[in-house]
Amino acid sequence: MEIKNLLVTGGCGFIGSNFIRFILRCDDFSGRVINVDKLTYAGNPENLAGIEETYPGRYLFRRVDICDAEALERIFSEYEIDAVCHFAAESHVDRSIRRPESFIQTNIVGTFNLLEAAKKAGKDFKLFHHISTDEVYGSLGPTGFFTEETPYRPNSPYSASKAASDHLVRAYHETYGLPTTISNCSNNYGPYQFPEKLIPLMILNAWEGKPLPVYGDGKNVRDWLYVEDHCEAIWTIMKYGKRGETYNIGGNCERENIAIVKLICDLLDERFPSPEGSSRRHLITFVPDRPGHDRRYAIDFTKLKKELGWSPRESFESGLRKTIDWYIENRAWTERVRRGEYKAWIKEHYC
Ligand code: NAD
Ligand code: DAU
Repeated sequence: MEIKNLLVTGGCGFIGSNFIRFILRCDDFSGRVINVDKLTYAGNPENLAGIEETYPGRYLFRRVDICDAEALERIFSEYEIDAVCHFAAESHVDRSIRRPESFIQTNIVGTFNLLEAAKKAGKDFKLFHHISTDEVYGSLGPTGFFTEETPYRPNSPYSASKAASDHLVRAYHETYGLPTTISNCSNNYGPYQFPEKLIPLMILNAWEGKPLPVYGDGKNVRDWLYVEDHCEAIWTIMKYGKRGETYNIGGNCERENIAIVKLICDLLDERFPSPEGSSRRHLITFVPDRPGHDRRYAIDFTKLKKELGWSPRESFESGLRKTIDWYIENRAWTERVRRGEYKAWIKEHYC
């Protein structure tokens, strides 16, 4: 499959920007990336600083809301889009609990608009790859794993909106023969993650000596995957995955939240001991639980491993060390993101 013009949606977010850097480096991709992003609070063009210069003629950005169907259709015809990798979404569970509206619009209606545009693209259209989450399967007890056969049972407005979008993608394959693949991935971490999510929030708060808010008893379990491993899995599925199929992606790395927060404290203490020699663990503060908080996620990715040969490369401890280093070394980025300063830059350039 030779992709000429790959539409990446949400490419200024955490995983999307890592994916664009990854795919432009790949020897087996020689096409062009067209990144469309609405630039919400989570979308930051600085995540792709220098990319146009590094890959001349192979990257371009358009500020587009995927809820704008006409704008999307113009993008498809103007750039002769022949494949889509769809990341754009409202992605934070806590925000979906407080204000679900934009999750319904972007995650469901936006995905529908993209599917319609892809359907109209004609016979040269090669692939619609949809990025989804393990959260669509709901919550596990102390044992067992999510497989591709696990029934959907989403518990938050976020996961319900992602579940709806997965069903739409599946339906467009079954009904219209659109060439699609879906991946359902576990929790990612790594560079450029917006510091509202557990790992970057805890790194920055611990670094700054602020409280580390742990929900409930801290014993909820997530299955962690370094973002570059996720990018490699996506590209593997895009190249070799069977059309119409779903693939689970996981890190084989279950951790309780409290264990992660303690490890972040310890790794920071090791590299930057506090003057008094006290541990940053004293910053841990238990706070009221997230409503409907899923207890445990764990992914069985045997299908992806056996059929397509993918496995994660990074261990959790090494990935977490790299991530901590990245956040400490990129203080200018984190400061600007935390203060929302990049928003002024967006206004100047794109409004
Ligand atoms: P993110 O919040 O960091 O980035 C989302 C991006 O989408 C931002 O750049 C934002 O500006 C853009 N966007 C939002 N609404 C848009 C709209 N209406 N039109 C165009 N662009 C819009 O999210 P992320 O963590 O990078 O997640 C990317 C995708 O991966 C999402 O679909 C998410 O559901 C999925 N996912 C994330 C994880 C994770 O751990 N972060 C795990 C599994 C799956
Ligand atoms: O599983 C994949 C999902 O992982 C993705 O689909 C979502 O887009 C992504 O945001 C993530 O969802 P989570 O809700 O698991 O991620 P979050 O980082 O918000 O929380 C991870 C765990 O840490 C969760 O059990 C809640 C807890 N937590 C989170 C925050 C922000 C805390 O205890 N304190 C916090 O301050």
